[in-house]
Amino acid sequence: MIKLITLFVELCIIYQTLGDITEGSASAYHDTNEVVHEDETYYTPQLDYKHPQWCHTLKLSNGEVSCSSPRGGRYQSSLGTRCLLSCDRGYKRLGRSSVQCTPNRRWSGTAVCRKVRCHVLPLIDHGMYSCTRGFVVDSRCDYTCYEGYQIEGDRYRMCQEEGKWSGTEPTCADHDPPKLKCPLSRVKVAEPGKLTVVVSWERPVAKDTADRTLQVLRNGPESGSDFPEGIHVIRYKAYDQARNTATCKFTVNVEVRRCPKLKPPMHGYLICSSDGNNYGAICEYHCDPGFERTGFATRVCQLNRSWSDEAAQCVLMAIKTDVRSAGALLDQFYEKRKLLVVSTPDNANQNYRLQNIMLQVI
Ligand SMILES: *[C@@H]1O[C@H](CO)[C@@H](O)[C@H](O)[C@H]1NC(C)=O
Repeated sequence: MIKLITLFVELCIIYQTLGDITEGSASAYHDTNEVVHEDETYYTPQLDYKHPQWCHTLKLSNGEVSCSSPRGGRYQSSLGTRCLLSCDRGYKRLGRSSVQCTPNRRWSGTAVCRKVRCHVLPLIDHGMYSCTRGFVVDSRCDYTCYEGYQIEGDRYRMCQEEGKWSGTEPTCADHDPPKLKCPLSRVKVAEPGKLTVVVSWERPVAKDTADRTLQVLRNGPESGSDFPEGIHVIRYKAYDQARNTATCKFTVNVEVRRCPKLKPPMHGYLICSSDGNNYGAICEYHCDPGFERTGFATRVCQLNRSWSDEAAQCVLMAIKTDVRSAGALLDQFYEKRKLLVVSTPDNANQNYRLQNIMLQVI
């Protein structure tokens, strides 16, 4: 009686342990103290002394039963036969490892083989895995990373016999720097009449194998701004999400074209716009009182660094010789000055010096 209670308790424990197990189960339980095979209803073997069978033949799905009978190899279900229960690879035994055919014509216990499963592998960022046989023993899951990412760690994991994955979860890392292309370097001439020029360019777009959108930072003046004379370096830097960087640079060389500085005319002066001799600057010729201009009033500094037209000259205004007055005397003075100017003055010339002295006397 005590034995029967023990069996009953044992079965209760197994039943609870099995709970929701369906796969690989060798037996189904109809009530708490009776074990019945699925494909053969429980029966009490007939006693046959030629082929004595005391307990029913043990079967274990996805496992092996190896029995030894006190009566010899052929009597596998006779009273006192002891059987070892083991499960196939990939299955785990729940229940007894060894049972015996008891006098009440039942086995002293039972076991089922449950398929061993590894846990569902989590998804990884920027990559995926594919398994040969899902999450069961001996399944191999190979990891691959998406384009632009490299695998770090174990390339595959195996579901091991005890239901644990080999190795550790790999990661997909982005080591590829983005690609960034700057506009071409350029030389710009300052706008006419200015010392600066507005320079525009297309903002470079960074490309990366891993990321679709990238942060691009600029260092230097922005496109469309006014650039003064000189060399300006504009740098761009792109970051991807893994903080890989790419840089590029280009230069904007602003050239202020200049014409040779104009000399003011003799007996006159110049009034120039802008910086005086930069491209587009306009110079106006003015003459001192008593002199008048011959030639063009203005000259423009051209792109090819030459002034338009010819230099103007300031010449003495025409003299009225019939006027007998103080003014006439003054006119005489100018007349003489004019003569001196025309005859290319030279201080080494005795005659010029003499005339000059005479003029100063007047
Ligand atoms: C400069 O350009 C102007 C107008 O384009 C032209 O008339 C002149 O001959 C050029 N001068 C030189 C030195 O090339």
